[in-house]
Amino acid sequence: MKRARVIGTGSYLPERVMTNADIEQLVETSDEWIRDRTGIRERRIAAEGETTCDLAEKAARRALKAAGVAPRDIDLIVIGTTTADQIFPSTACLLQARLGIHGPAAFDVQAVCTGFIYALSVADQFIRTGAATTALVIGAETMSRIIDWKDRDTCVLFGDGAGAVVLRADTKPGILSTHLHADGKHAGLLQVPGGISGGYEDGRDPYLRMQGSEVFKMAVTTLSRIVDETLEANGLSREDIDWLIPHQANNRILAATARKLRLPMERVINTVAEHGNTSAASVPMALDVGVRDGRIERGQLLLLEAFGGGFTWGSALIRY
Ligand code: COA
Repeated sequence: MKRARVIGTGSYLPERVMTNADIEQLVETSDEWIRDRTGIRERRIAAEGETTCDLAEKAARRALKAAGVAPRDIDLIVIGTTTADQIFPSTACLLQARLGIHGPAAFDVQAVCTGFIYALSVADQFIRTGAATTALVIGAETMSRIIDWKDRDTCVLFGDGAGAVVLRADTKPGILSTHLHADGKHAGLLQVPGGISGGYEDGRDPYLRMQGSEVFKMAVTTLSRIVDETLEANGLSREDIDWLIPHQANNRILAATARKLRLPMERVINTVAEHGNTSAASVPMALDVGVRDGRIERGQLLLLEAFGGGFTWGSALIRY
């Protein structure tokens, strides 16, 4: 059976930096509170007119370059995003046209902060079954567009960015396993109530709303469980993990998962301070940071995990 190997990574952050001091000008908060409760110091915000597809394209081109792959070799594009450029076509189709690719499947996956793990899992299945050979998998978001910048409970947490990987079919792994879950009964705890099926003028709230402490508790317990599930499925133990690459929601959630794995924080790729929570972009951006600064080396075992609205949660175990 064919397996999917990560042959290149890339990421892109918009130029504009928004610090905690900048947010102090918008809502009643402080740099100290934000750093203490979340670990976030700053986040990037897309420029006016800069879209999710713009960010995705820059990350994708960097990943393609790192992989030494031409766009014409890509036979699948999957983008995890909750902040698509348009209702349709999908951001993946828009990107496909920009890359000059014509014909192979391209689609978006919507699983909020777990979007990249979902997209990676889908692409992995395509490669395992022989339906695709070289896949471009992206997490890209402009969360700043769905944030209520007057709501201090949420506006301090999120940022914009994109991360990408190129997967190629190989006889040796690669992606060892992926594990996806969802439980829609918690939808109300983390959501953007507005949508389209009620029509443009139905008056529903278009901004992200969250019950932070409930989300926090659920995130910690589900991520602990998925760590066990992933290791058990592969007959591996905690000591085998070289790097934890978690969804960068919050330092305290990262630390709780690391504790569960008995991994020192030096073995966790942590971009919370500089990126904030970039939803589906956070895991592939952290992966790219670790690869490019030389911490992540070929042959090492990587555990990727994420949790987000839905609720959705998932993991991927990768022999890099
Ligand atoms: N600045 C200052 N004070 C703030 C604030 C802010 N930005 N946001 C909330 N507060 C206040 C609250 O109003 C509350 O005040 P009160 O005690 O007078 O009512 C106090 O801080 C404590 O609020 P609480 O929500 O209990 O804080 P917390 O310790 O749970 O931290 C979060 C809040 C949001 C940081 C935390 O709940 C969290 O990280 N949740 C998970 C968020 C997440 O990762 N979501 C995405 C998952 S993909």
